[in-house]
Amino acid sequence: MTDTAPSPPTSEPLAPYPAPGQVGAILLTEAQIQERVRELGDELARKYRDTTPLFIAVMKGSVIFAADLMRAFKAPVEFDVMVVSSYGDALETTGVVKIVKDLDTPAAGRHVVLVEDIVDTGLTMQYLLDHFSKQGAASVSVCSLLVREGSEAAGLNVEHIGFEIPHDFVIGYGLDAAQIYRNLPYIGVFTGDL
Ligand code: PRP
Repeated sequence: MTDTAPSPPTSEPLAPYPAPGQVGAILLTEAQIQERVRELGDELARKYRDTTPLFIAVMKGSVIFAADLMRAFKAPVEFDVMVVSSYGDALETTGVVKIVKDLDTPAAGRHVVLVEDIVDTGLTMQYLLDHFSKQGAASVSVCSLLVREGSEAAGLNVEHIGFEIPHDFVIGYGLDAAQIYRNLPYIGVFTGDL
Protein backbone atom coordinates (compact mmCIF):
# COMPACT_ATOMS: atom_id res chain seq x y z
CA MET A 1 0.00 0.00 0.00
CA THR A 2 1.28 3.50 -0.84
CA ASP A 3 0.46 6.02 1.85
CA THR A 4 0.44 9.76 1.69
CA ALA A 5 2.28 11.60 4.45
CA PRO A 6 0.54 12.23 7.83
CA SER A 7 -1.60 15.38 7.78
CA PRO A 8 -1.37 18.38 10.07
CA PRO A 9 -3.90 18.46 12.94
CA THR A 10 -7.46 19.12 11.81
CA SER A 11 -10.91 19.36 13.36
CA GLU A 12 -12.54 18.41 10.04
CA PRO A 13 -14.66 15.20 10.17
CA LEU A 14 -12.66 12.09 9.28
CA ALA A 15 -13.61 9.82 6.39
CA PRO A 16 -15.91 6.98 7.53
CA TYR A 17 -14.05 3.83 8.56
CA PRO A 18 -14.64 1.22 7.37
CA ALA A 19 -15.49 2.86 4.06
CA PRO A 20 -19.00 2.12 2.74
CA GLY A 21 -19.17 -1.30 1.07
CA GLN A 22 -16.26 -2.83 2.99
CA VAL A 23 -18.28 -4.63 5.70
CA GLY A 24 -21.52 -6.57 5.19
CA ALA A 25 -23.22 -8.39 8.04
CA ILE A 26 -21.95 -7.87 11.58
CA LEU A 27 -21.64 -11.45 12.83
CA LEU A 28 -20.59 -10.57 16.40
CA THR A 29 -21.11 -7.22 18.07
CA GLU A 30 -18.62 -5.67 20.45
CA ALA A 31 -20.94 -6.44 23.40
CA GLN A 32 -21.34 -10.10 22.41
CA ILE A 33 -17.59 -10.51 22.10
CA GLN A 34 -16.84 -8.80 25.41
CA GLU A 35 -19.36 -10.92 27.29
CA ARG A 36 -17.98 -14.16 25.85
CA VAL A 37 -14.39 -13.12 26.56
CA ARG A 38 -15.31 -12.54 30.21
CA GLU A 39 -16.81 -16.05 30.36
CA LEU A 40 -13.71 -17.60 28.76
CA GLY A 41 -11.42 -15.75 31.20
CA ASP A 42 -13.41 -17.11 34.12
CA GLU A 43 -13.47 -20.65 32.66
CA LEU A 44 -9.67 -20.60 32.25
CA ALA A 45 -9.01 -19.09 35.70
CA ARG A 46 -11.00 -21.94 37.27
CA LYS A 47 -9.22 -24.56 35.14
CA TYR A 48 -5.74 -23.28 36.06
CA ARG A 49 -6.50 -22.29 39.65
CA ASP A 50 -3.65 -24.46 41.06
CA THR A 51 -0.95 -23.33 38.65
CA THR A 52 0.33 -20.31 36.73
CA PRO A 53 -0.25 -21.01 33.04
CA LEU A 54 1.74 -19.56 30.15
CA PHE A 55 -0.58 -17.81 27.72
CA ILE A 56 0.91 -17.69 24.24
CA ALA A 57 -0.72 -15.23 21.88
CA VAL A 58 -0.44 -16.47 18.32
CA MET A 59 0.14 -13.22 16.48
CA LYS A 60 -0.80 -11.18 14.80
CA GLY A 61 -4.49 -12.03 14.68
CA SER A 62 -4.87 -12.73 18.40
CA VAL A 63 -3.52 -9.35 19.54
CA ILE A 64 -6.87 -7.90 20.61
CA PHE A 65 -8.38 -11.13 21.94
CA ALA A 66 -5.27 -12.00 23.98
CA ALA A 67 -5.18 -8.55 25.59
CA ASP A 68 -8.84 -8.78 26.59
CA LEU A 69 -8.63 -12.45 27.66
CA MET A 70 -5.63 -11.70 29.92
CA ARG A 71 -7.64 -9.01 31.70
CA ALA A 72 -10.61 -11.36 32.05
CA PHE A 73 -8.32 -14.00 33.63
CA LYS A 74 -8.45 -12.93 37.28
CA ALA A 75 -5.47 -14.98 38.52
CA PRO A 76 -1.68 -15.12 38.05
CA VAL A 77 -0.63 -15.77 34.46
CA GLU A 78 2.50 -15.41 32.35
CA PHE A 79 2.36 -14.14 28.82
CA ASP A 80 4.45 -14.50 25.68
CA VAL A 81 3.88 -14.11 21.96
CA MET A 82 4.69 -16.07 18.84
CA VAL A 83 4.36 -14.61 15.41
CA VAL A 84 3.14 -17.28 13.04
CA SER A 85 1.85 -16.91 9.53
CA SER A 86 0.39 -19.25 6.96
CA TYR A 87 -1.82 -16.93 4.96
CA GLY A 88 0.30 -13.80 4.49
CA ASP A 89 -1.97 -11.44 2.57
CA ALA A 90 -3.66 -14.29 0.72
CA LEU A 91 -7.21 -15.58 1.11
CA GLU A 92 -6.20 -19.22 0.99
CA THR A 93 -3.73 -20.84 3.38
CA THR A 94 -0.33 -21.49 1.80
CA GLY A 95 -0.34 -24.83 3.63
CA VAL A 96 2.97 -24.00 5.30
CA VAL A 97 3.16 -22.56 8.81
CA LYS A 98 6.08 -20.21 9.33
CA ILE A 99 7.36 -19.20 12.78
CA VAL A 100 8.27 -15.57 12.24
CA LYS A 101 9.07 -14.94 15.93
CA ASP A 102 9.56 -17.65 18.55
CA LEU A 103 8.93 -17.47 22.31
CA ASP A 104 11.24 -15.72 24.77
CA THR A 105 10.06 -18.04 27.58
CA PRO A 106 10.92 -21.78 27.49
CA ALA A 107 7.70 -23.80 27.28
CA ALA A 108 9.19 -27.00 28.75
CA GLY A 109 7.30 -28.06 31.86
CA ARG A 110 4.74 -25.27 31.48
CA HIS A 111 0.97 -25.42 31.19
CA VAL A 112 0.55 -23.66 27.88
CA VAL A 113 -2.62 -21.97 26.64
CA LEU A 114 -2.45 -21.14 22.94
CA VAL A 115 -4.56 -18.04 22.36
CA GLU A 116 -5.86 -17.85 18.79
CA ASP A 117 -8.25 -15.50 17.04
CA ILE A 118 -9.47 -18.20 14.65
CA VAL A 119 -9.04 -21.88 13.95
CA ASP A 120 -9.89 -22.22 10.29
CA THR A 121 -8.37 -25.24 8.54
CA GLY A 122 -6.63 -26.18 11.81
CA LEU A 123 -3.20 -26.27 10.16
CA THR A 124 -1.70 -23.61 12.47
CA MET A 125 -3.13 -25.18 15.61
CA GLN A 126 -1.96 -28.68 14.67
CA TYR A 127 1.52 -27.36 13.92
CA LEU A 128 1.72 -25.55 17.28
CA LEU A 129 0.34 -28.49 19.27
CA ASP A 130 3.10 -30.70 17.77
CA HIS A 131 5.68 -27.96 18.32
CA PHE A 132 4.90 -27.54 22.04
CA SER A 133 4.56 -31.23 22.69
CA LYS A 134 8.09 -31.67 21.23
CA GLN A 135 9.30 -28.82 23.46
CA GLY A 136 8.11 -30.75 26.52
CA ALA A 137 5.21 -28.56 27.67
CA ALA A 138 3.42 -30.12 30.65
CA SER A 139 0.09 -29.53 28.87
CA VAL A 140 -1.20 -27.55 25.91
CA SER A 141 -4.74 -26.19 25.58
CA VAL A 142 -6.18 -24.06 22.82
CA CYS A 143 -8.45 -21.09 23.44
CA SER A 144 -9.75 -19.69 20.18
CA LEU A 145 -12.24 -16.86 19.92
CA LEU A 146 -13.57 -18.28 16.64
CA VAL A 147 -13.70 -21.69 15.03
CA ARG A 148 -15.18 -22.50 11.65
CA GLU A 149 -18.39 -24.47 11.68
CA GLY A 150 -17.60 -28.12 10.95
CA SER A 151 -14.04 -27.98 12.30
CA GLU A 152 -14.94 -30.73 14.79
CA ALA A 153 -15.61 -32.95 11.83
CA ALA A 154 -12.04 -32.31 10.72
CA GLY A 155 -10.87 -33.84 14.01
CA LEU A 156 -9.88 -30.59 15.66
CA ASN A 157 -10.09 -30.44 19.42
CA VAL A 158 -10.30 -26.85 20.59
CA GLU A 159 -11.20 -26.97 24.26
CA HIS A 160 -12.11 -23.33 24.77
CA ILE A 161 -14.18 -21.77 22.00
CA GLY A 162 -15.72 -18.34 21.83
CA PHE A 163 -18.00 -18.73 18.84
CA GLU A 164 -18.50 -20.96 15.83
CA ILE A 165 -18.78 -18.98 12.62
CA PRO A 166 -19.73 -19.79 9.03
CA HIS A 167 -17.27 -19.84 6.14
CA ASP A 168 -17.40 -16.11 5.43
CA PHE A 169 -14.32 -13.94 5.10
CA VAL A 170 -14.44 -12.19 8.47
CA ILE A 171 -12.57 -9.14 9.70
CA GLY A 172 -12.26 -7.15 12.90
CA TYR A 173 -11.20 -7.77 16.52
CA GLY A 174 -7.74 -8.81 15.30
CA LEU A 175 -8.70 -10.37 11.98
CA ASP A 176 -7.51 -8.62 8.83
CA ALA A 177 -8.06 -8.21 5.13
CA ALA A 178 -4.62 -7.50 3.64
CA GLN A 179 -3.49 -6.41 7.14
CA ILE A 180 -6.23 -3.75 7.56
CA TYR A 181 -9.36 -3.78 9.81
CA ARG A 182 -7.78 -5.56 12.81
CA ASN A 183 -8.82 -2.58 14.97
CA LEU A 184 -12.58 -2.88 14.41
CA PRO A 185 -14.22 -3.71 17.78
CA TYR A 186 -16.71 -6.14 16.17
CA ILE A 187 -16.46 -9.05 13.72
CA GLY A 188 -18.06 -8.57 10.34
CA VAL A 189 -18.07 -10.05 6.87
CA PHE A 190 -15.57 -8.43 4.49
CA THR A 191 -17.32 -7.36 1.31
CA GLY A 192 -14.61 -5.11 -0.17
CA ASP A 193 -11.97 -5.74 -2.81
CA LEU A 194 -8.42 -6.70 -1.96
C1 PRP B 1 -4.62 -16.73 10.85
C2 PRP B 1 -5.10 -16.85 12.28
C3 PRP B 1 -4.61 -18.19 12.71
C4 PRP B 1 -4.57 -18.97 11.42
C5 PRP B 1 -5.73 -19.93 11.40
O1 PRP B 1 -3.30 -16.29 10.82
O2 PRP B 1 -4.59 -15.82 13.08
O3 PRP B 1 -3.30 -18.14 13.28
O4 PRP B 1 -4.71 -18.03 10.34
O5 PRP B 1 -5.84 -20.59 10.16
P1 PRP B 1 -5.72 -22.17 9.98
O6 PRP B 1 -6.55 -22.81 11.04
O7 PRP B 1 -6.26 -22.40 8.59
O8 PRP B 1 -4.24 -22.50 10.08
P2 PRP B 1 -2.62 -15.61 9.53
O9 PRP B 1 -1.68 -16.58 8.86
O10 PRP B 1 -3.66 -15.00 8.64
O11 PRP B 1 -1.72 -14.49 10.17
P3 PRP B 1 -2.17 -13.26 11.11
O12 PRP B 1 -2.53 -13.85 12.45
O13 PRP B 1 -0.94 -12.43 11.17
O14 PRP B 1 -3.34 -12.54 10.47
